Amino acid sequence: MKKLLAVLAAAGLMAAATAAFGAGITTSKHNLSATGPAGYSGTTTQICIFCHAPHNAKESLPLWNRSNPTGAFKLYSGVGMANVSFKTGFTTDSTSLFCMSCHDGVTKMNAVYNAGAIDGNALNHYVERVAGTFRNVAITGSGNLTTDLSKTHPINFPVGTTDPQSDLHSGSGTTMGSAGFTMPLFKATRSGASTNRSLECGSCHAVHDSAISPFLRYTMAGSALCLGCHNK
Ligand code: HEC
Ligand code: HEC
Ligand code: HEC
Ligand code: HEC
Repeated sequence: MKKLLAVLAAAGLMAAATAAFGAGITTSKHNLSATGPAGYSGTTTQICIFCHAPHNAKESLPLWNRSNPTGAFKLYSGVGMANVSFKTGFTTDSTSLFCMSCHDGVTKMNAVYNAGAIDGNALNHYVERVAGTFRNVAITGSGNLTTDLSKTHPINFPVGTTDPQSDLHSGSGTTMGSAGFTMPLFKATRSGASTNRSLECGSCHAVHDSAISPFLRYTMAGSALCLGCHNK
């Protein structure tokens, strides 16, 4: 156990160091620019623009630069989740919905909001500085989660600080997880929801850091990631 913790600590330090120098995303599959992994078309060398814009973003948080997908999504609604009301779809401020603006397998990479050069919004002076063309295909293969997420771990629901199933390291504030684990929870503006405690894709995945493949916050060796939240 000590050894496992040491390994985890080392991985954590490495991830932090990588993130600090921005290498976390540049060599990953989330670098959709011309400098990204082979196989991506498009010529722009900008990385962040596929998801964020410094001005005139689509959503305030986190300067999100993509239009939300319009498909009808189906979320997990099994055993203990039957009473979670928005199982039939996403709240519009869900960062998981943001992920699905690529991972639905329908929306193309170049469906960015603030990009005059490709969207015809020529009056936007920021985007005229985005040189080049954008990757213009949708995700195919295993990264295509489709719009049916009913067989994916529950997402986009508020996590209370009192555990309904007595198996969670519920935590407090805007994170959850047992000692040594920090799993972020995100904003939930649904009325009656506890604020900033929504479980989203980003609770398990680190979208900017591929140190633990596939963009995981903690290793799946020994199911550490799962045990970080579930006290099984
Ligand atoms: C593939 C999409 C994507 C790309 C590309 C991307 N981000 Fe993000 N970013 C997100 C998402 C989604 C969030 C919301 C929080 C989360 O899920 O971790 C976020 C959140 C953030 C945040 C606020 C929270 C945090 O994690 O610190 C910052 C700052 C940020 N991104 C900076 C950047 C920068 C700088 C770049 C380019 C080097 C970049 N991002 C590229 C998707 C992306
Ligand atoms: C970031 C914390 C977190 C992580 C990591 C996590 N879970 Fe969960 N999981 C939850 C929460 C919160 C629920 C909601 C159910 C509850 O309140 O008990 C849940 C629900 C579930 C459910 C459905 C329970 C039901 O009542 O229908 C299963 C099964 C499950 N998780 C398995 C896993 C597995 C397997 C992993 C590892 C791949 C994992 N979880 C990782 C937080 C997490
Ligand atoms: C701008 C488009 C875009 C957004 C937004 C986006 N992704 Fe991705 N993601 C991709 C592409 C492209 C790939 C590579 C798919 C492939 O290789 O077939 C990928 C791959 C992945 C992979 C698999 C990595 C691997 O090594 O196999 C994971 C996990 C992932 N993304 C999670 C997320 C999560 C979580 C979010 C939201 C927080 C997100 N993505 C948002 C475009 C995106
Ligand atoms: C409870 C934790 C958890 C949540 C929540 C979660 N994932 Fe994952 N995801 C994982 C794990 C663990 C893997 C790796 C599974 C494996 O390889 O055994 C994975 C794999 C993936 C992959 C790679 C699939 C492949 O075969 O290439 C993608 C893409 C992905 N997740 C995207 C998402 C998106 C988008 C969301 C939100 C809609 C999401 N994930 C929510 C834990 C999670």
